[in-house]
Order: sequence, then structure tokens, then C-alpha cells
Amino acid sequence: MIVYFRGRYLPKEEVCISPDDRGFLFGDGVYEVVRAHEGHFFRAAAHWQRLRNSLAATEIVGPTDAEVQSIAETLLEKNGLRSGQATVYLQITRGVAPRKHGFPQPPVPATVYGYAAPFTPLHEKWLAGVRVLTAPDHRWARCNIKSISLLPNILANQKAQVAGVHEAILVRDGVVTEGSHTNFAAVRKGTFLTHPQNNFILPGVTRNAALELCLALRIPVRESPIPESDLSALDEAMLLGTTNDVMPVVQINDRPVADGRPGPVTRRLQKALQELAEREKPAVT
Ligand code: PDD
Repeated sequence: MIVYFRGRYLPKEEVCISPDDRGFLFGDGVYEVVRAHEGHFFRAAAHWQRLRNSLAATEIVGPTDAEVQSIAETLLEKNGLRSGQATVYLQITRGVAPRKHGFPQPPVPATVYGYAAPFTPLHEKWLAGVRVLTAPDHRWARCNIKSISLLPNILANQKAQVAGVHEAILVRDGVVTEGSHTNFAAVRKGTFLTHPQNNFILPGVTRNAALELCLALRIPVRESPIPESDLSALDEAMLLGTTNDVMPVVQINDRPVADGRPGPVTRRLQKALQELAEREKPAVT
């Protein structure tokens, strides 16, 4: 695997990360994950915009959108991933400096790392739906920043893994915020419900696409917190994310969602998202 590290493309085995890298010492960095279909990134501009927002919020000086786009494309190219599906992971840390909590003085160059990996479509899960569990949302209050400090997400996701379910959905102050690595949405009485966009959730690229699709499909939307106590009364539930697309949720903890099968709104959104990704691919000339 050829990866990108500090300005060079090289075999992954040859990467040497300094123990003084602030990503390693403090989790002081931000990241993005973008999905490629036949060499085309789904909503690259939205991902790069969010990366810029994460960098600005953390005061890390990172590469420009054009540089990031070029790194992502080169990673696909160098790893033979211009056909089929892939994900590109990009991480930017505050750089290498002796351990001190304040920013390095004088500033040091950010560490930029990226890799591309083949993505295996989750056909069976998209068809049948998945089970999730609820877990307390122990994260900080700036979840809109795509920080590499993911310990609370990891601990919640591990609970799901141990329980043999697909994802953990997080509950803060009695309401569902999002999943450990996905946004969460539900349907009740025909209305698409999802947590409002604020500092308690990541502004998901897939979530935004789903909101656009609801508008186009005339599905009513309410961006308001879903109380944990309402989970048993949902008609449909779904996860939204770069690696999940629109993933039907058919069971939450020990309770089926409605009749325990993916619902009609979820199905419409699944199909519409697929069509959107197709439509946005540049025409092959
Ligand atoms: N996760 N919420 C959280 C906490 C996430 O980590 C993610 C993405 C999402 C969905 O956002 P998007 O639709 O832009 O992918 C929501 C990535 C895929 C990850 O950490 O691997």
C-alpha cells in the first residue's frame, strides 16, 4: 500500500512517525474520510470544507483544498483504486514538537497522512438492516469538529462490537445525538427526524445529502432531538455516513423498530442516495 506522509508517497511500511508527533502524544489533529466510486469522490467539496472548518476550529494550518484533492486522487491512482469503490482517509496533526500542552512555539509544519483502501459494499446489511445499541454519549461538547481524539466513540463502538451489533447510538441528556461513526435519523408518522446541526453532532456529508433528498422527495423533515424514551415508538430508524450510506436500523437494544424490517422512507432514501452518487459522477468521455 502506497500512503502519503509529510509530502511524499511511499510504502506504508516505510512511514516513520515521530513519538513527538502531537497526534501521537495528544490526539491533537483532525481527519476526513471520503468515499470514491469509480475514481470519483462523493461530495469532495463538502468534505474539504468540513476539513477546513475542523482545521480553523483547532487553529492547525493544513493543506489547501486543491492539495488535499490532489493527494486523495493520487492515493487512488497509486493504489489501483480508480475503479470500484474505495475510501480515502486523511489526517492532519499539529506536527512534531517536544511535549508541551500549548501550541509549539515557533509553529511547526502540520503532519499530513493519508491512505486509500478498497471499500466493500455492505449489500447484505443494506438489504436486511442492522441492530444497534444505545450508549451514553461521553464525548466533549465540540463534536462538530472531526477530531482524531475518538476515545469515547471507540469505547461506545466496542460495546456494540462485543454485543455483536453494528453500531452504538449515543444518548446525551436523554436524547439521541448520533452514532459512534454515523449520524442517526428516524421516521415517525411520515416525518424524517434527526438531531439538529449543532456542536453535539458532526455535520455529516451523508446527513446533509439525506436532508436534500427529503426535500426533493417531499418527505417532511424535523431537525429536533429524538428523546431516548421515543425510540420504542419509531416507525423507522437509520444510520447515515460515508461508510454506511443509508443503513436501515431494525432493532435498538432488545426491541425491534416497528415490524423489525427496513421501512419505506429508508428504502426511498437508500435508492435516492445511490442515484445521487451516480448523477454527480462526471460523465465519462
Ligand atoms: N465517520 N458522526 C460521526 C461521529 C462520524 O464519525 C461520522 C463519519 C459521521 C458521518 O459523517 P459523513 O456522512 O460525513 O461520513 C457522523 C467516518 C466515516 C469515520 O470516522 O470513519
